[in-house]
Amino acid sequence: MAPKVVVITGCSTGMGLETAALLAKDSGNRFKVFATMRNLAKKAQLEIAAGSTLNKKLFIRELDVTKEDMIVEFIDRINREEGRVDILINNAGVGHVGAVEHVPMSQIRSIYETNVFGLIRLTQAVIPGMKANRAGHIVNISSIGGLFGYPFCDIYSSAKFAVEDSPNLLHHY
Ligand SMILES: NC(=O)c1ccc[n+]([C@@H]2O[C@H](COP(=O)([O-])OP(=O)(O)OC[C@H]3O[C@@H](n4cnc5c(N)ncnc54)[C@H](OP(=O)(O)O)[C@@H]3O)[C@@H](O)[C@H]2O)c1
Repeated sequence: MAPKVVVITGCSTGMGLETAALLAKDSGNRFKVFATMRNLAKKAQLEIAAGSTLNKKLFIRELDVTKEDMIVEFIDRINREEGRVDILINNAGVGHVGAVEHVPMSQIRSIYETNVFGLIRLTQAVIPGMKANRAGHIVNISSIGGLFGYPFCDIYSSAKFAVEDSPNLLHHY
């Protein structure tokens, strides 16, 4: 069976990096992973984690989830070259701690651009292909902060609450 084409956002560090390497190293060769990050200067850690899977089963690509044109161009290219996106993992996110009255609106907008609108835009970009193929999975990385609010995590929690509700927003594909 052809490997599933996986796109993961935010793979320079943390869960995105670990997930990309884990899937690429799958002993059943079930995944071809496009591990994306907004700054390719940070790719060294992922290259090490990928080991021998690099450029064979794990491919590192540039993608900033706040840049709509880049998202559309990137997903179009994967669809053209690979024929489909089977699995999208919306992992990219920024953390934030701070009482709401002290957070500038520009910073709040920036958190939402990454944690909410980026996730929605990526999802919009892959849905037509998944519908055409009548198959696909979208995994949204949320947080416990999206289930109940923490003191002084107002903005982060509100963004993760939006992620928690995004299946409703996106009509349960
Ligand atoms: N760690 C936790 O305890 C925890 C708990 C619950 C939920 N989460 C969620 O899990 C996800 C991953 O978190 P993590 O703990 O692995 O954090 P992390 O190590 O800070 O990784 C976050 C990743 O997102 C990337 N990113 C930020 N802005 C981006 C943008 N505009 N476009 C593309 N990538 C961008 C970062 O890239 P740069 O290196 O360029 O900044 C980084 O690769 C996030 O959605 C986070 O909210 C984490």
